[in-house]
Parts: sequence; structure tokens; C-alpha cells
Amino acid sequence: MYQIKRMSEGTKDHEKKEKVPNKSIFRLSGIFHYLRPYAFMYFIGWIFLVLSTSAGLVFPYLMGKLLGTTVNPSSPSMPSGFLDLNNVTNVAIALFVLFGVQALFSFFRVVIFNNVTENSLRDLRNDAFSKMIFMPMDFFNTNKVGELTSRVSSDITQIQETLRTTIAEFFRQIVIIVGGISFLFFISWKLALIMLATVPVMALIAVFFGRYIRRLSKEAQNFSAQSNAIVEEALTGIANVKAFTNEYFNIKRFSKNTQELRDLNVRSGVWRGLFVSFIIFCLFGAIVFIVWQGLLMTQGTNPELSKEGFYQFVLFTIMMGASVGSLPDLYASIQKAIGATENLMEIINGKSELELHTGKQKNEVKGQIEFESVRFSYPQRKDMDVLNSISFKIERNQTLAIVGASGAGKTTITNLLFGFYAVDEGRVLIDGVNVSDYDLNHLRENMAIVPQDVLLFSGSIMENIRFGLTDATNDQVITAAKLANAWEFIESFPEGLQTEVGDRGIQLSGGQKQRIAIARALLKNPSILILDEATSALDSESEKLVQDALSNLMKDRTSLVIAHRLATIRKADKILVMQNGVIEEAGTHQELMDLKGNYANLVSLQLLDS
Ligand SMILES: Nc1ncnc2c1ncn2[C@@H]1O[C@H](COP(=O)(O)OP(=O)(O)OP(=O)(O)O)[C@@H](O)[C@H]1O
Ligand SMILES: [Mg+2]
Repeated sequence: MYQIKRMSEGTKDHEKKEKVPNKSIFRLSGIFHYLRPYAFMYFIGWIFLVLSTSAGLVFPYLMGKLLGTTVNPSSPSMPSGFLDLNNVTNVAIALFVLFGVQALFSFFRVVIFNNVTENSLRDLRNDAFSKMIFMPMDFFNTNKVGELTSRVSSDITQIQETLRTTIAEFFRQIVIIVGGISFLFFISWKLALIMLATVPVMALIAVFFGRYIRRLSKEAQNFSAQSNAIVEEALTGIANVKAFTNEYFNIKRFSKNTQELRDLNVRSGVWRGLFVSFIIFCLFGAIVFIVWQGLLMTQGTNPELSKEGFYQFVLFTIMMGASVGSLPDLYASIQKAIGATENLMEIINGKSELELHTGKQKNEVKGQIEFESVRFSYPQRKDMDVLNSISFKIERNQTLAIVGASGAGKTTITNLLFGFYAVDEGRVLIDGVNVSDYDLNHLRENMAIVPQDVLLFSGSIMENIRFGLTDATNDQVITAAKLANAWEFIESFPEGLQTEVGDRGIQLSGGQKQRIAIARALLKNPSILILDEATSALDSESEKLVQDALSNLMKDRTSLVIAHRLATIRKADKILVMQNGVIEEAGTHQELMDLKGNYANLVSLQLLDS
């Protein structure tokens, strides 16, 4: 339900809305919200835009004068002073001044718009990321991470371009067109009417083309997001790809996608090409036609049009033609930005965990845990119950162990404790309070997990341990590392705690990673500790090290231990044996041994093993 709507799904809807162009621009409003803090600066930028555009309109006027004037420059009579624009030299100087002024205005326009854009985009980026990171788990189950990231980055680039130049350009062209038309009427209404007869036709076709091209480019955006996702998946799991000699499979998957992307873009390129040639043909056709008509008007003894007026007319027409020609591209680009804005706003306006979760309780978390006939299925697979009437209880500072086959639902139990998902039936209670009634941040601050697959972030070992408690002192970090039996190997690195790990640094072994995760959890000093297969990646010697570290970690807190190796859970206060989402057996090691059921069976198997 959180899935970002594919644009192609919504096309019908879009087409309906596109009939009202005002509404389209209105849909950019999400972005205007981000411009608001910089409104004053933006306003100044617009003043410069208006100034430089108006200055631009004077150009054809002066240039026409320069071309059409008949005064001989070598006989400077200058009867009416410097501002006599019938003097060639004066006109030329005026043109130089004009360009100087325009250059200055344009400089400020570009710099100011750029500043405003970058400020707004920084805020937008921050908002999008903060929103995403607070999204409920279900959001990440239904949206591919690679697609999300590339979509967000390409959407933002699109918006960047629009804010920085496109809106301003669009406005400039409109002013040129409106100003140009007024001036044309001023020079010769007849010629102006001839000119106008061609413009609306082009404009209509432009809208039609623009709409179609927009649809194609949206589809292309989806394809490129998909291919980014393929690249990201393959590169993140590169060891797996190589081990399974899956390179060719991935290449095939990727090239199928890039081929589709190429086909789509080629198709849209043909349309764009058609469009451009159409505009060029019409444009030059129109110019030739108007030049011809205009020249006819300058003939005779009492011509309707002066030579000067004719040149001005032609220059204005060319300038306007160029403006009209550039509109569709600008329009398409604004349309794309609208699409991008909608995508981003869908994320930014989405319901985050903070909004969905209404619980406010901030009681001290002591660590008593109780599951009351919990039934649960994952949101995208509602038909399959992962947990079925699960009930158990552990007191504060006790240790609960969960064993059971893969897929039995062990990790799911921990997901529910963290409040990642809501239960379908029953209650999950911590100190007698429903998890859904807690302030989630408060609850999670009092819990720590050493997960099944430890993830280290790019950064130093120090930063990775501090992840557990961001304001921990160096000494605290070192103590935690020592208790986790991680200090020895950390010290052996030349750069010690500052050693870079993760994607851009050295790769640690599974056991080393686990000990860092244990140090992380120790530093957090939680009331409830969850160990999900925390010793699975280890040989017996490191297991001993980690086991000692874990015993340190489990002191004086409620622990929930998931383990395949039964030796590690012998001392637990209670052991649950799970199978297909139900608890089959529950009790202490001795009780379960006496029961001679599944657990006893498993133990005897493992004893034979070792
Ligand atoms: N995010 C998810 N969306 C849908 N189904 C899921 C999700 N995570 C797990 N499942 C399903 O829920 C069931 C229980 O998964 P769980 O991860 O709790 O198993 P487990 O007992 O921890 O197994 P293992 O010992 O292999 O870690 C499995 O059938 C799994 O396919
Ligand atoms: Mg698991």
C-alpha cells in the first residue's frame, strides 16, 4: 500500500488533468513550498529576469534601426544630441550599452536563481531522506531500495534544472512573445496578423507533441530506475554473483532492460526529431513568407512600411520564432519536473512511522516480555500466517531461547518486539504495556539487537560501534570493544579504532563483524537484548570468544536468544521450540529433555555431530 505509484498506471488520470494546464503548474506547488523561505531572494531574481528580458526586447528595435538607417556615419551632423538614434554610431553605442546592461542583469539572475535552487534542494533532499528513513518497514518491503534511491536522485536533478533555468526561460520566452507581438502590431498590424496566423497552429501542434513526448520520457524514467536497481543489486551482492557464476545472467537481465530503454528513447527521439523539423520548416516558411510580404509593403512611392520598420519586423519575428520553438521543450521539461515533484511529494507526504504510530508511553522499560495469543502475517502476504497464537512470558533479567527450523518465525518475533509491524491478533506486551502504546523511539532506545546479518556502515570501526550510542566517549567505546572480545583484533590493525570498514574500507570476517555488533549493543546498555543467531558465523574458537562476550552482554538484562547451536542456550530460563509459526514445546533445558520430544531429539543429533 505504500508503493510509489508507477506513472504509467496513472496515465488516464493524468490525461484528464492535463486538459486544465493551470492545474498542471499548480501541481508544482509542492516545490514552491520549498522556495518559500527564500522568497525574497527569489523575488529579486525575478526582478533581474524581468529587467534582462526587457533589455532583450530593445535589441531588435535598435538593430533594425542600425540596419535600416540611411545616415552616413562619416558626416556626423548630430543635430539632436547623443540620443539621436538616426545616427549609426549612436545606435551602435546604444547597442553596446544595452548588451552591457543585459550581461549584468543576466549574471545576477543566474547566480540568484542558482542560489535559491540549491538552498531549496538541500531542504528537499533532507526532507525526502528523513521521511524515507522514518517510513514503516512495510514501505521497504514493497519499494526496491535501488529504485527508490535512483528515482529520488533523478527526480531531484529534474527539479533542479527546472528551478534553476527552465521556469525563468519559460517566462522569458513568454515575455518575448507577448512583447514581440505588441511591437509587431505597432509597426504594422497587417504583417502582424499574417504572422499570427502561423503561430497558433504551431502552438497547438506543440502541445500535442509535448504531451506525447512527456509520456514517453516518463516511461523511460521508470526503465532507467529499474536498470539502476539491477546494477545496485548485482554490485552489492557481487560475491554471490561471482560464486554462482551469475555474471552472464545479470548481464542478460541488464541488457534486456537497457535495450528496452534504448528502444523507448529512440522512439521518443524520432518524435522529438519530427517535432524539431516541423518547427524549423514552419519557422523558415513563415519567415520567408513574411519577408516577402514585408518587402512588398516597402515598395512604391508612398510605402506602408519604412525600411527600418521592415528590419525591426523581421528581427522581432525571428526572435519570436525562436521563442515559440523553444517553448515545447521547456514545456516538456516543466511537465517532467511536475512528474518528479509528484513522485517526491508522494514520499514526503507519505505516512511515516512517526505519524502512523500513535503510542506515546514513555515508561521506564524494565524488560518483562509477554506475547498473548499473537497471530501475525506480513503485510504483503496476508494469506500466510507466519505466527499463529503465540503465547509466552519472560520476567525481567531472564533469558529466553528460541529454537526451531528455518522459516519457523523466530526473527519475526523479534520484529514484533521492535514494533516494526503491527500484530493481526493478540498483544505484544513489554512491562504489561502494549508495544503499540509505547513511544517507538523510547522503546527502541531501550532495546538492542545483534542481528542475523550484521551490517557495518561505511566509516571507521569507532563510528560503527558508536552507532549504538552516538554520544559515547572514546573510553566507553574501548571498554565495550574489550567486553565484546573485539579489542584484540581492532588493536592489531595499524589504524586501530580509526580503521575504515564497509564498502570503502577493509572487509571484516563474519566473526569480527559480529563482535563489533556486540560492542555496539553493549554500548547501548539496553534493558532488552536480542541475539539473532549471534554465533552462527563462527568457528568453535571464535565462538568461545563471542560466547564470553555474549555472557558479558547478557548480564542484568532480559535477553532473547535465537540459536541453532543448542549448547549456547542450555542455561536459558526458558526455551521455546518453534515450528511453522507455532510453539511446539516450552520449558527449561531439563524439562524439555525429560519430555523426550523434538528438543531432546535435536540435542541428541547435535551431540552426535560434535
Ligand atoms: N518481510 C517479509 N515479508 C513477507 N514474508 C516474510 C518476511 N520476512 C519473513 N517472511 C516469511 O515469514 C516466515 C518466517 O520468517 P522468519 O524470518 O521469522 O524465520 P526464522 O525462524 O527467523 O528463520 P531463520 O532461522 O532462517 O532465520 C518465513 O516463511 C518467511 O518467508
Ligand atoms: Mg531468522
